[in-house]
Amino acid sequence: MFHKPILTVALIVLSACGKKDDPEPNGKTFPADFLWGSATAGFQVDMGCPTLSAAECDDTASDWYDWVTDPDIVAEANMFVSGDPVSMGPGMWELLEQDADQMKADGHNSYRMSLEWSRLFPTRVPDSAASVDELVPLANPAAVARYHEMFAALRDRGIEPMVTVNHYVLPRWIHDGLSCHIDLETCVDRGWMDRDRMVHHAGLFAGFVGREFGDDVDMWLTLNEPYATTLSGYLQPGESRSAPPGVVFDTAATRDVMLNQIDGHAAMYDALHAEDPTAEVGIVMNLTAIVPRDPEVENDVRGAEHMDYLYHELYMQALLDGAWDADLDGIPETTRPELANRLDFLGINYYNRVEVAGFPFGIAEEVPIFDFLPEFSWEPYPEGLGEVIARAGAWNLPIYVTENGTPYVEDDGVEVLEGHLDALWTELDGGADVRGYFYWSWVDNYEWNHGFDLRFGLYELDVVTKERIQRPVGERYSEIAISGTLK
Ligand code: BGC
Repeated sequence: MFHKPILTVALIVLSACGKKDDPEPNGKTFPADFLWGSATAGFQVDMGCPTLSAAECDDTASDWYDWVTDPDIVAEANMFVSGDPVSMGPGMWELLEQDADQMKADGHNSYRMSLEWSRLFPTRVPDSAASVDELVPLANPAAVARYHEMFAALRDRGIEPMVTVNHYVLPRWIHDGLSCHIDLETCVDRGWMDRDRMVHHAGLFAGFVGREFGDDVDMWLTLNEPYATTLSGYLQPGESRSAPPGVVFDTAATRDVMLNQIDGHAAMYDALHAEDPTAEVGIVMNLTAIVPRDPEVENDVRGAEHMDYLYHELYMQALLDGAWDADLDGIPETTRPELANRLDFLGINYYNRVEVAGFPFGIAEEVPIFDFLPEFSWEPYPEGLGEVIARAGAWNLPIYVTENGTPYVEDDGVEVLEGHLDALWTELDGGADVRGYFYWSWVDNYEWNHGFDLRFGLYELDVVTKERIQRPVGERYSEIAISGTLK
């Protein structure tokens, strides 16, 4: 199912023989234990199995499954849901072993993937469940067994798994995204809106996976990009991303979900450590290179500062120092020690530069410092990775770049890869504690509401045959990973 030109194989073998032991002078060499890998999330790559039945392959019990398959949502123009069938996916639920063979051949020594809560617990876990013991008999044995196989397949090939416990997707029994889309006030299973219930279940689930998979996994990530959940789910669902429940400009919900996710992370962190004593636990932040639209204009400068606070500092100050800013006015009013020191490392997803226009006044009572309008761009800005690594240095944590890539992978994938790695290397060389890099994505993935309209893979996916065809960026990344050197 893999297609790779013979010349490429020869080049890689040559580079493997020559480069590692004998790096050319002036090469930018990375540490020998640097993690090189790619990243995916289960919902985006597991479905689309070539021979397993849909019943065996598809993860149908989640809010995101509903979101991308519900005819009313697909028909709703301003939610921008592609309607692509999930069967277009690369089927990694079935094909992970084959992919892992290729990762190994490509010199990858790590792989970031996610567990899917709705695969492990497709049916309702009662709110009365109070301990991991009570969860064990409720778990789906087929999914538990398959995840063990997947982790073993990676480890057998010398590929270290880094595992996201929750990459956006929630089981329908805790988040009924369709009902909440229709009426956020009256829906019953309200996901992150329902603080106590969600934090309780997120903690239990993290405890379960820590106990079950703790021998397979050392590096855990609790949540992926918490801010993205609120932005595309409760504030500004739109063309760039819409997510369940797809509520437009509900700033009270946005505030609540942001704060609840901080509590959720802390509960997950504690549960993972309780069940898996050797666990290293981080969170994935989407760090954005934020700049004022006009550095001479005071409103733009202040708007950029406020956005930086809401996107980045709010979470980091809470999880490092316990600083708690319940009214989101930019000034933490209390300290909550039970949130502090809840990060062993930081995962950075870096894609964008964003220009910020500021307003002279706030536009939402519930989030007083919301006085800005960000304009995101997919235009590559590789130096931004260096900028966000440099600013993350102040948080004093080991760093992994847990995602980086481009939807224009066909046009400028190689350039984007090299530019970002160059910026990363410069920071590393200057003393930054960066320990790994994960390209998004291994293979073209189901890009949320976009389906397969946007392609990111090191490997291009033939959505019918499931063949993976290496792109030039995959080839280049393999050379870099094998040699450990950027020239
Ligand atoms: C997410 C991925 C997504 C990627 C590209 C990140 O926001 O973690 O799930 O596919 O960006 O858009």
